Amino acid sequence: MSGKAGIGIVGAKFAGSFHVETWRTVRDAEIVAVSDIDDSVREEFMKKYSIPKGYHDYNDLVTDSSVEIVDVCVPNFLHAEVSIAAMNAGKNVVCEKPFATNLSDGEKVVEISEKTGVNYFYAEDWIFAPALVRAKAILDEGAIGRPLYFKGRESHGGSHSPFAQKIRFCGGGSMIHLAIHPAGYFYNLLGMPETVMGRCSAGGNGNMIHPEFEGEDWGIGVLGYGDGTQATIEGNYITHGGMDDTVEIYGTEGIIRAELTFGSPLSVFSMKGYSYAVEKAEFTKGWTRPAVDEHQSLGYKSELNHFLACIKNEEKQIGGTKAEAGFNVLRIIDAVYRSNREGKVITLGS
Ligand SMILES: NC(=O)c1ccc[n+]([C@@H]2O[C@H](COP(=O)([O-])OP(=O)(O)OC[C@H]3O[C@@H](n4cnc5c(N)ncnc54)[C@H](O)[C@@H]3O)[C@@H](O)[C@H]2O)c1
Repeated sequence: MSGKAGIGIVGAKFAGSFHVETWRTVRDAEIVAVSDIDDSVREEFMKKYSIPKGYHDYNDLVTDSSVEIVDVCVPNFLHAEVSIAAMNAGKNVVCEKPFATNLSDGEKVVEISEKTGVNYFYAEDWIFAPALVRAKAILDEGAIGRPLYFKGRESHGGSHSPFAQKIRFCGGGSMIHLAIHPAGYFYNLLGMPETVMGRCSAGGNGNMIHPEFEGEDWGIGVLGYGDGTQATIEGNYITHGGMDDTVEIYGTEGIIRAELTFGSPLSVFSMKGYSYAVEKAEFTKGWTRPAVDEHQSLGYKSELNHFLACIKNEEKQIGGTKAEAGFNVLRIIDAVYRSNREGKVITLGS
């Protein structure tokens, strides 16, 4: 690849916006096209970000010769089909989480990525969040001794996206949407767990506070590893006050704690409020901890820089972003759901 890499964004709303804003900070990348089936959303997006080409049908974007990287930012149920179309067109793929909404679609993505040999990047941003990169380095240095227990949670008050409310569009609730982040981060650190136990609210009227969501609004998975290490992954939509992303790691000789969202160095007390504090925060009055640069602190900048560097053969792809990793993380979430349904511990192969 010489010159700027042409990026084609599929899905022009929330994730599409932060991907474009992040790509614009990546040297040697240029947004050349966008696709969204909602024509007015797409046109507004093109205008806002000065994107020259827009397509209603993503198939036209993936076959556009100026597009070298297809960045998949559509609702979950389309991740597999858009990724497969892009790979079959010989394009590099960056795909948002989850890898797919079910294991059989996931298997097809792995199969096509192996068959076509294109670069596929599973975009788990937590792997690149500076606080969690530093946490891994401190852990690897042995600072807290032998790690015993990993605890990770993403939580907020509920997804804004209408697609996230229907299981057929998203594959579940807060586990597949939110807990998939700590699942992906822990997978990159620890590999595949041997056992998985899950507990989730029942969805709909069985939810804690969100009857309008078909999937669970609270869930937890307990992952057991071969060496006795344990991990818990939690995703919940019952958290007020903004998105709360945390990781704790307990070792024989110490503890690591990371707060990705509320760990801001900035504190503000405002009597009248202001425009934006942190993702999903309802209010900005009183004491708040506004994010300084979410695209950086949540890992998106380093993530997209890494993906482009891999395409240019300047960096070796991090294991936790490969297609196999995305699929295995989906297997972990699927096992949480299965355990919750069947009331038993699920044993996973490696
Ligand atoms: N990494 C993260 O932290 C993070 C954060 C938010 C969202 N996401 C992921 O990003 C994806 C999109 O989420 P969102 O919040 O932007 O959803 P959204 O509902 O805000 O936007 C989705 C967009 O996709 C468009 N779309 C639907 N079908 C399409 C099709 N066939 N072709 C082209 N466009 C189509 C919709 O019209 C809509 O504009 C989800 O998979 C979600 O899991 C990841």
